[in-house]
Amino acid sequence: MIFKLLLVFSAVLISAHQTSAATDKIICFFASWAGYRNGDGSFKPNNIDPNLCTHVFYAFLGVDTDGSLKILDSWNEIDLGGLQNVESLKSVNPNLKVLVSIGGWNAGNAILNGVAASSTLRANLIASCISFFQQWGYDGIDIDWEYPVNSDKANFVKLLQEMRTAFDANNYLISVTVSATPLSSYDVPQITAVADLINIMSYDYHVAGQGGVTGHNAPLYGPESVNTSVHAWLDAGADSAKLSLSVPFYGHSFTLADETKHGIGDSATTGIGGPLTQSPGVLGYNEICEYYNDWTRVWDDEAQVPYSYDSFNWASFDDPESIGIKAKYAADNGLAGVAIWSIDTDDFHGSCGTVDVLLQAIKNNID
Ligand SMILES: *[C@@H]1O[C@H](CO)[C@@H](O)[C@H](O)[C@H]1NC(C)=O
Repeated sequence: MIFKLLLVFSAVLISAHQTSAATDKIICFFASWAGYRNGDGSFKPNNIDPNLCTHVFYAFLGVDTDGSLKILDSWNEIDLGGLQNVESLKSVNPNLKVLVSIGGWNAGNAILNGVAASSTLRANLIASCISFFQQWGYDGIDIDWEYPVNSDKANFVKLLQEMRTAFDANNYLISVTVSATPLSSYDVPQITAVADLINIMSYDYHVAGQGGVTGHNAPLYGPESVNTSVHAWLDAGADSAKLSLSVPFYGHSFTLADETKHGIGDSATTGIGGPLTQSPGVLGYNEICEYYNDWTRVWDDEAQVPYSYDSFNWASFDDPESIGIKAKYAADNGLAGVAIWSIDTDDFHGSCGTVDVLLQAIKNNID
């Protein structure tokens, strides 16, 4: 009798598990070049907390014209042990998934345009992926094609479908990282049918220098926002259980034209770069919290994100409060999880207090 009851009880547990779409994925993009940053800015695989990330995406590899995967910086990825050391994190957390990400902004459309158009080259890429997964112990691929054009639409789907068929025997994962708003070159229902994960790049809604005015990097609400992007993908046919929104662990910096006009939409040009990331117009969260924490912080009630200013300096960014709210939004909307671009600019030394304060804000709010 007790045995029977236990069986019934566990059957109920199993079915409850299968029907509830949990928001349980924390997808950590690791920009492998972050190891080259100055001093405290240098972020290596051993700075990744494999118990906070559920997935680590190693960014980026390229694709050769013959369709094979191309290691772009063999010193960093191989000699210094980048690829190997990320995979080794699975010995700390056996549930961790480690994927290799191909493409990115610098690769542009050329990364896959020619390869996806040819059945031979698609087959070469797929074979190259499988041998890479076997050689390096990776669990799958993330395709970060920025961006397919309309003539690539059917080829992108063919590539994904052929990958699915070839990967299924070993359960290799397929992720796509896509524009915040669905493009006409995405066949959303077909992509959804095949991909395990769809990460929308819900940031850079307004970048430094754009239109000569200040603006939010990643507002949660408003006319062009994380919320409108998520809805657009769901309306286009994406499955919420595969969709993750992204949060930026960086902000955009501006130089104000008039230091007394420091609101949203005020005149500004590209702002300062930080001492660690050294890129004008962009500041890592670690830089914002460590070096610019005396700026005046303003919370935008509509957008649910902060900005800050000091004299002629101005920055739009996310902090633990706005990131916590976005993670809760992902959970409330039954999304797969939250992706991060990129974990190497979290406060990973805890210089401002809590180690990995942004990742912690995600974890605390999706649980
Ligand atoms: C979120 O976006 C949807 C679709 O655009 C809209 O209907 C809804 O009002 C938005 N939510 C908020 C709180 O702005």
